[in-house]
Amino acid sequence: MQEIKFYSGEDLPLELHKARIVQKLHLVPIERRLEALYEGGFNTFQLSTKDVFLDMLTDSGTNAMSDNQLAAMMQADDAYAGSQSFVRLQKAVEDVLGKKHLLPVHQGRAAENIISVAYVRKGSLVPMNYHFTTAMAHITDKGGQIVELLYDEAYVINSDHPFKGNMNIEKLEEVIVQKGAKNIPFIRMEASTNLIGGQPFSIQNLRDVRAVANKHGIRLVLDCSLIGENAYLVLQREEEFIGSDMGTVIRTMTDLADLCYFSARKLSSSRGGGICTNSMEIFRELEALVPLYEGFLTYGGMSIREIEAMAVGLYETLDETVISQSPSFIKYLVEELHKKQIPVIRPAGVLGVHLDAMQICAHIPQKQYPAGSLAAALYLISGIRGMERGSISNQRDEYGNETYADMELLRLAVPRRVFTLSQIKYVEDRLTWLYDNRHLIGGLKFNYEPPVLRFFMGKLEPTGDWPQKLMAKFKEDFGDSL
Ligand code: F0G
Repeated sequence: MQEIKFYSGEDLPLELHKARIVQKLHLVPIERRLEALYEGGFNTFQLSTKDVFLDMLTDSGTNAMSDNQLAAMMQADDAYAGSQSFVRLQKAVEDVLGKKHLLPVHQGRAAENIISVAYVRKGSLVPMNYHFTTAMAHITDKGGQIVELLYDEAYVINSDHPFKGNMNIEKLEEVIVQKGAKNIPFIRMEASTNLIGGQPFSIQNLRDVRAVANKHGIRLVLDCSLIGENAYLVLQREEEFIGSDMGTVIRTMTDLADLCYFSARKLSSSRGGGICTNSMEIFRELEALVPLYEGFLTYGGMSIREIEAMAVGLYETLDETVISQSPSFIKYLVEELHKKQIPVIRPAGVLGVHLDAMQICAHIPQKQYPAGSLAAALYLISGIRGMERGSISNQRDEYGNETYADMELLRLAVPRRVFTLSQIKYVEDRLTWLYDNRHLIGGLKFNYEPPVLRFFMGKLEPTGDWPQKLMAKFKEDFGDSL
């Protein structure tokens, strides 16, 4: 993609789209935001959008859809079986991901459920570059375990390593030898590794993983939910592919996997999900589970309109101007925060900006959830809703003990083509104020903790009256400004 330079010399990301449908936002007063936090148990998942100004919870199902996607939804061929919309989706999957056989599912975690039901048994071990919450929950739910095999550099917050999502090949070999290939149903690689800050793997690394998988006869499963962004960063950062194109890079990745799955809520800016493969054997192993858990094989629990939007969205993944918008906004915000010495994951990844709560809230012990506290504090002082990606998002071990996260992150998602640059500058401004007043942020404790995926439904409370003190300081500095 060609660079667009400013005469002023400023390095600004430029929107290559125009807004034609817009939604009004509301920035409610800080007193209401404080009430909303108490009502929602200091868990940003529990906030109502009527109290949220910039919704940076996730990019899942919140990317802006294109005019062509909306138009395609109008021609949906509604049918329980044999819908032509599904035929269009199959063709898009084959053209973009290079896989002939497609199983539709209602979203990404449904694919994880089906793959885990089919292959994971008690005693199974699934090596992966890093876990995603739902992938891990489905594997452990079926009696399996996971092992994360990143290189140490993945955990370095401020780094210039281009591929922190790479799998540690030596450790992978070791794990397979120790555990025995027969107990390893598949190796899982996640494109743009979400929970370490949306960090990509290189194609060379994926080739190395493939070679190990071949040597031991183990399936390679690729989570393609963020493959467009991983491909975009490969185009920028991997020597061999500089000057190549999105289609070639995506296909080079998917061709290395036996089985691909995805959340279409991310990949194609629609809803839904899918599992695809070129192996008839794998297809047959999974096929019967789709009508059981999802719906008939030509809709898989999705609305047919979404299937049409998904097909168009898949082709749009090949357009660098579509995929680059979010990473370029993220890079802008990351670098601005870094200039102010606010600890943030570098290099800038995809999906969102990831703040290091372990450093920002160094005074809050991990057992009082620094990332959850930072998420609540940011919402209070700005109306910006981020997502805790730290120990609250971890699950307890089989004995009920807390397992502390490797990193305590506050993720501020930047969904595709949703926010403007002045909104991003507002984020920067309020984060700067919060950083300067970070000593006022206190910890959290659970008062309701569900046993599975606790971060969604859990309710917490502050340890003391720090939210009131933070609000008082905000009012002192901002007067009657929202
Ligand atoms: N894999 C990855 C890499 C994901 O990021 C997600 C979802 C899933 C699988 C599950 O897909 O939500 O459609 O069931 N990530 C969202 C997020 C929830 O906010 O990062 P799903």
